[in-house]
Amino acid sequence: MAILSVSNLKKSFGSNLVTNDICVDFQEGELVSIIGANGAGKTTFFNLLTGMIKPNGGTVMYKGADITGKPPYETLKHGLSRSFQVVSLFEEMNVLENISIGVQSALGLRANLFKNFKKNDEIRVRSEEILSQIGLFDKKDFPVGAISHGDRKILDIGMALSNRPETLLLDEPMSGLAKGERSRITDLIEKLRKTTTLIIVEHDMDVVFKISEKILVLHQGAVLAFGDPEAVKRNKKVQAVYLKS
Ligand SMILES: Nc1ncnc2c1ncn2[C@@H]1O[C@H](COP(=O)(O)OP(=O)(O)OP(=O)(O)O)[C@@H](O)[C@H]1O
Ligand SMILES: [Mg+2]
Repeated sequence: MAILSVSNLKKSFGSNLVTNDICVDFQEGELVSIIGANGAGKTTFFNLLTGMIKPNGGTVMYKGADITGKPPYETLKHGLSRSFQVVSLFEEMNVLENISIGVQSALGLRANLFKNFKKNDEIRVRSEEILSQIGLFDKKDFPVGAISHGDRKILDIGMALSNRPETLLLDEPMSGLAKGERSRITDLIEKLRKTTTLIIVEHDMDVVFKISEKILVLHQGAVLAFGDPEAVKRNKKVQAVYLKS
């Protein structure tokens, strides 16, 4: 059975049909990349899966449970987490404090405990564990305003790990990064894929074709192709509308 099963998903903004009857199954443990031109509907698809917006039709099933239109805190409880195309962090706080906020809510603790999070061992231990996992432990006391763009992207992925998600959606984890910094992200992805089902929106085709078990091509809100990298590369429709452009 698919871990995540999407059927006839539809979303319009006014007259703009942005998600056009998407049907796709994601298997547990797989790494699937989503590609498509700017405006193809990739981020909208993630927003629909994680309940940030509600679809106009269709269903999203996660491990057999209907999570269609459920809000993000509920999709998170089911095991689905995400990072963002545009990273948004708590600029006044340091790296550890940022992670601690995510961990605190993942543990179901009240926000006012945050002031004392350094005294709360559970939050601190889990936060430091995530920072070690993502390779930012040495920068835990740095204000986020002082870390590199690459570190910010990695920290945002770390925020998404608070709940120990079984499935992680990454929206352009490498955007705006130079080659050297991109390899840090691919190293992290290689580490995460051992324990997590990954769905990654990415424009870097070298990376996409290298790391993916399957590739989903979106075009004008619809599925143009879905399959292993070789099949997608050979697909005439994909070549015509996307890979040759
Ligand atoms: N909240 C919104 N209100 C109105 N239109 C929206 C909204 N969100 C997205 N859209 C429109 O939906 C379409 C798809 O946008 P989306 O952000 O999903 O594309 P994308 O594939 O992620 O593109 P990119 O590669 O540039 O990130 C665009 O035409 C966009 O303008
Ligand atoms: Mg996008």
